[in-house]
Order: sequence, then structure tokens, then C-alpha cells
Amino acid sequence: MAGRSEGLTLQKLWQAPDEARAGLVDLRGGPLPPGLASRFSGELTVELRLDRPTIVANFVSTIDGAVSLGPSEPSAGGGEISGFSEADRFMMSLLRGLADVVVVGAGTVRVGRKHVWTARFVEPELADFFAGWRSEMRLAPQPTTIIVTASGDLDATHAGLNDPDVPVVVATTEAGAERLAKLPLAPHVQVKVAGDDKRVAASAVLEVVRGTGARLALCEGGPHLFGDLLGARLIDELFLTVAPQVVGRDATARRLALVEGTSIGGGRGRWASLAWVRRAGDDLFLRYRFEP
Ligand SMILES: NC(=O)c1ccc[n+]([C@@H]2O[C@H](COP(=O)([O-])OP(=O)(O)OC[C@H]3O[C@@H](n4cnc5c(N)ncnc54)[C@H](OP(=O)(O)O)[C@@H]3O)[C@@H](O)[C@H]2O)c1
Repeated sequence: MAGRSEGLTLQKLWQAPDEARAGLVDLRGGPLPPGLASRFSGELTVELRLDRPTIVANFVSTIDGAVSLGPSEPSAGGGEISGFSEADRFMMSLLRGLADVVVVGAGTVRVGRKHVWTARFVEPELADFFAGWRSEMRLAPQPTTIIVTASGDLDATHAGLNDPDVPVVVATTEAGAERLAKLPLAPHVQVKVAGDDKRVAASAVLEVVRGTGARLALCEGGPHLFGDLLGARLIDELFLTVAPQVVGRDATARRLALVEGTSIGGGRGRWASLAWVRRAGDDLFLRYRFEP
């Protein structure tokens, strides 16, 4: 399918006034370098927490709340949700450009077997600009990929596990690690036992992120992993693209977050404040901040 490209620039419609929030004083980002700035009005800055790594999430959803038409390739990826929107891809690349690590669940990994979680993978023509920007920010050339899996059921030939420039950490259980030990994983893939027998707790995911020395993690889902982190109040911001598509009652469609139980605010929800509204063609780009 051809990408939707009618609006390439992420035009700023509204932005909340800058107010330094208590305990959040370090900043990552700023004005974009030439080459990236022409497609994004204004600055891209993320406030970094001092007490732990900051975790921001990025998703694209249809108007009626689907993030996946699952259950498997080729229809299950975010591209189907965005209609392969070039603006959405660009937003994703900007966030990857800023991040020290990109955290994904194994379900998301399994549906995108050719995917590598870097800006240069989604925007190869802009790779040099991203490289320059990261070097100016004194970041590693590529973000580390962190994959969360209980089962350890990964494909050792997956592209995301085989780019030697992109370090990978797999956060898993004892059983997952045993399974992974039997795979011919590349030397830059590290396996860390971080979970009990069934799950890797959100707090343990955070410790794996912290163990890499990261200050800014980008969670790219999917809904199970995002739900776990959201339920544990570890998501600081959500960048949400609303794609102008309605999918209706597709039995396999998946919602944005699968949060277990009623852990968020005692079951009464958790509120966020709107930080900006942008638009590119018919796509809407929302940025929400959760209270620290
Ligand atoms: N539209 C978007 O922006 C967007 C973004 C991301 C993903 N998606 C889509 O979402 C779909 C996948 O959804 P999903 O909910 O299955 O995604 P997921 O969270 O990526 O995958 C779930 C799997 O990840 C592992 N996992 C997640 N959290 C874990 C935890 N706390 N501890 C241990 N393992 C954990 C488990 O793997 P094991 O089974 O190996 O134990 C679990 O079965 C895909 O179709 C993907 O394309 C869409």
C-alpha cells in the first residue's frame, strides 16, 4: 500500500505554555537540526526526570481506538493503522532520534520481522541528519532495543536482533532465558533475567532500562507492555497519532492499552494534561503528559 503523504509537515496548532515542573529540570532535545526542522514546526523537547529514567510512549490509533488489526502479519502492524502515513513515520523517527532506548513487547516484535527500532530504519533518507543530531546531544549512535518477553519465543533471524550497530537487551523470565540460550543470538544481544515465572514486572522493566544508563526510554508498545507500564504509573508522556480511519468491530483489533485489573488510580482512571496538538493533513498528533 502506498503511504498517505498529503501532509508532510507536523504543523503546530497549539502548545501548552512551558512551565518547568517540579523535579523535572533536565531537558533532552530542543530545536531540530536543519534537514529535520523543515517538517516540524517548533522545538521537540522532553523533560527528563531526576529520580528515574523518563518513559514516553508513542502509538498510532484509529478514530475508534484500534492500534492493531492483528493477529499477525501483514495486517497487524502500526502501518496499517496509520495508512502508512509519512507524517506519522516521521514523528516516530523523531522520538527514536531522541531516545536512549526503545522498549517493545515480544508481540510487537513478532509481527514486524523486518523491523529495526531506529530512526534510520524508518527514515533512511534522513539517517545522516539523525546521526548528526544524536552526536550533538552526545547520545549513542543508535538507541538500544529492549525486548520484553516472558516466553523467550523470539526469532533469532529477526532484523531487529541482527543489526550490529543496535545493541539489544532481552528482559525475560528464567524459562525465557533457558529458551533463548538455545538460540544462535548475535553477540550484541544480551539476555537478562528480570521476571518471575510468568511476567516481567513493570518495575523490573524500569530497572533493565536504568541498567543501560538510559535517561529517556521510548515505549513503542504494544498494548500489553504499555498497559503494564501505564498501570504501574511509569509512563510520563504519551505521543498519540489519531489516524482518520474507522475499523469498526473487527474481532482481532486491539485497543491502545491493556491494563490489568483496576490498578490505575484505584480504578478511577489516570488523567493527563494536553501538551500539544499538531496536524499533518488529516492526521492529528496529540501529546499528553501524566503527572509525575
Ligand atoms: N498502532 C501502534 O502504534 C502499535 C504500537 C505497538 C504495537 N502495535 C500492535 O500491537 C500488536 C501487539 O499487541 P500486544 O499487546 O500483543 O503487544 P506486546 O505488548 O508487544 O506483546 C505482548 C507480548 O509481549 C511480552 N510482554 C509484554 N509485556 C510483558 C511483561 N510485562 N512481561 C513479560 N512479557 C511481556 C509477552 O511476550 P511472550 O508471549 O513472548 O511472553 C506478551 O505475550 C501488534 O499487532 C502490533 O503491531 C501497534
